Amino acid sequence: MGWERFDDIVMLVGSPLMTGLMESVRRAAASGANVLIEGETGTGKELIARAIHHFSPRSSAPWVDINCAALPDHLAESELFGYEKGAFSGADSAKPGLFELAQDGTLFLDEIGELDRKLQSKLLRILDGAPYYRLGGTRKVTPRARIVAATNRKLETAVAGGEFRRDLYHRLGAIRIETPPLRARRGEIGPLAEYFLEQERPRARFAQQVIQALETYDWPGNIRELRNVVASAAAMCPDGIIGLSHLPGHFRDRQVSDSEALSRLAAAVLTSEEQSSFRLEEMERRLVARAMAFTNGHQQRAAGLLGVSRRTLSRKLKEWTRPNR
Ligand SMILES: Nc1ncnc2c1ncn2[C@@H]1O[C@H](COP(=O)(O)OP(=O)(O)OP(=O)(O)O)[C@@H](O)[C@H]1O
Ligand SMILES: [Mg+2]
Repeated sequence: MGWERFDDIVMLVGSPLMTGLMESVRRAAASGANVLIEGETGTGKELIARAIHHFSPRSSAPWVDINCAALPDHLAESELFGYEKGAFSGADSAKPGLFELAQDGTLFLDEIGELDRKLQSKLLRILDGAPYYRLGGTRKVTPRARIVAATNRKLETAVAGGEFRRDLYHRLGAIRIETPPLRARRGEIGPLAEYFLEQERPRARFAQQVIQALETYDWPGNIRELRNVVASAAAMCPDGIIGLSHLPGHFRDRQVSDSEALSRLAAAVLTSEEQSSFRLEEMERRLVARAMAFTNGHQQRAAGLLGVSRRTLSRKLKEWTRPNR
């Protein structure tokens, strides 16, 4: 567990869920099969796609991406497959499509759920290895790129509703990876917040109750929302110490009891068996031990991770190691 750095990306892998996910990423990368990444908005789907390319044997070949939602259908088609000069009015010169540009690399189809039916059919044939023509072209092009696709819609629902082809869904998702929401890995909130703050304003820091407020919020916009909240707080606070008053209103109005905070945190770092079999004190000990192991014994960071003050943490550690207990 820790920070993964590749290309220009810095990525936290700071929870058992994310460690498991990265193992799947490495296996998927090595396999060469198409991958479908599903997950809520802002959970890191694009980062995961980049990781798959980076860890794959195709990493020195091109990475090409397209956002299927950002383009009207006819443009998506000419972008993907390219065109010859004069293929349509305005086609003043020939242009290769993204499949050609990706060569033996990775083609990332973001927001694949937005692709229209006609392109879904065309894509299906290509995933079956069929050659295609540039628009207005006569020369066959054989696609070689590996496809990684992402969606924040439940594609299965779109399939059930008849909006997305079932055969294409299965073809794209030879391997499926789901990025977990931030609220399912609350132990990562603190380290991510510290990292984003360091980026925005290196000498600023959070007041203790801010970390706790961040850790207990549910983050519907996930990591992107966290990054935005930190950036705006960093800009709003005059003296470099970020307090609750620098967060959006809904953070200020919430008060969470210590035991609620503890059980939420436990849900993020302990297995469900561990959670149900321990009394509160035992759970607390486990949490502290995990946090200390995770930070290599760094008390300040372990305290931050747990959402308690350093003094509280060190008092507990002393209590537990007293010989007469
Ligand atoms: N594990 C992580 N460590 C550090 N930063 C992360 C991590 N996951 C995501 N981010 C950051 O959060 C932001 C959102 O990530 P990303 O764009 O990959 O999400 P997404 O799932 O593709 O979102 P959307 O569905 O809205 O397109 C980016 O700024 C990204 O760098
Ligand atoms: Mg995205």
